[in-house]
Amino acid sequence: MPVYDETNIEDLQSRLLDTESQDLELDLGCGKSNLCHSLAGANPSVQYVGVDWNRHFCMEGERGRRKYGISNVFFVNLEAGLFLKKYVRSASVRAVYIFFPSPAPRAQRLVTESFLWEVFRVLSVRGELRLITDDSDYYSSIRKSLRIVGWEEDFWVPFPFILPPGLLVGTPCEEEYGSHFVLCLRKRY
Ligand SMILES: C[S@@+](CC[C@H](N)C(=O)[O-])C[C@H]1O[C@@H](n2cnc3c(N)ncnc32)[C@H](O)[C@@H]1O
Repeated sequence: MPVYDETNIEDLQSRLLDTESQDLELDLGCGKSNLCHSLAGANPSVQYVGVDWNRHFCMEGERGRRKYGISNVFFVNLEAGLFLKKYVRSASVRAVYIFFPSPAPRAQRLVTESFLWEVFRVLSVRGELRLITDDSDYYSSIRKSLRIVGWEEDFWVPFPFILPPGLLVGTPCEEEYGSHFVLCLRKRY
């Protein structure tokens, strides 16, 4: 499977069209992609997309996908906000995951008010946004940006695979920094 980027956008668009009948879940800023592999392995009927602007991580994700023989995940090497805005249909996504978004540089932070509107747009009704950060300043700015009235807070339901005690997602960043600030939001309408 190719890693999708600006050189094969038409292939990405038809791939996304092909997944229309499936539940779609996105890991934005997927990094080394181990969460995408674990989720895709545990939920074979769900289509996962890992997005990262670092090409090296997307290639690593694709190598892992082949190694584990998983067919329901693919990787997109684009800026995550642009990916949502240009390529993801409204109300077509069941879950968006953003774990340990890079807090620096501040001016390039992914999670802004306009980005959260895009997340809200692509989620289907009752779709969920799960976000974890270890950065208190980033967390408070995200909370301030959550002015969208259609969100409701929900409980964290554990992912359907086994993790070491104390971990929620088992990504490299969670292992290194710990899950200090956790958000689980659901789109009400
Ligand atoms: C701190 S790492 C977290 C990786 C992984 N989610 C984890 O929990 O280990 C942040 C990741 O987001 C990616 N990233 C940051 N801003 C991005 C953006 N605007 N669009 C796409 N990827 C982005 C970085 O390349 C990096 O891989």
